[in-house]
Amino acid sequence: MNTNRLSGNIQAALNTQMTIEATASQIYLSYASWASAEGYEGIANFLFRHAQEERNHMMKILEYILERGARVRIEAIPAPASEPTSVENCFQKIFQQEVENTHAIYKVVKLSLQEEDWATWNFMQWFVKEQTEEETLALNLLDKIKIAGGEKAQGNALYALDRELEQKPDDVTLAEEKTAENP
Ligand code: FEO
Repeated sequence: MNTNRLSGNIQAALNTQMTIEATASQIYLSYASWASAEGYEGIANFLFRHAQEERNHMMKILEYILERGARVRIEAIPAPASEPTSVENCFQKIFQQEVENTHAIYKVVKLSLQEEDWATWNFMQWFVKEQTEEETLALNLLDKIKIAGGEKAQGNALYALDRELEQKPDDVTLAEEKTAENP
């Protein structure tokens, strides 16, 4: 009796997405290590926490695959590409990385729609929302470094940004959660 509730294509797509989330975690680890080595301990703290969040995304998919009676395939994680060259460059790379991940998530959503796999479609909606949140978070980082002076940011401005990110929560409020009283 076949108890696997995922099609071969969906199973493969989810396994691939699992590896993408694991890769994202490694990328955040590498950026966090770079930030720490450069003396930005607050930014490093923020990025180390985010690396863990990406790993949690990987685990969420892994558990879903198993719950659906399918097989998990653990694959090699590619090494992160080059280190950032500045704080601004670091935040640009983060934004780029999140946009690429969003495209990957959309591919899985599209496939689940084509196959009429509503359980997977429903499961993936959490990731669609999460990606909106993560892109907003990355955009906020870019805004902050821009205000601090972009590539020319230095001294007090970078120090203040570093301190702020040390405590920054990993979540952001999304547009649909805003109200007129609390914009
Ligand atoms: Fe798992 Fe940054 O998305």
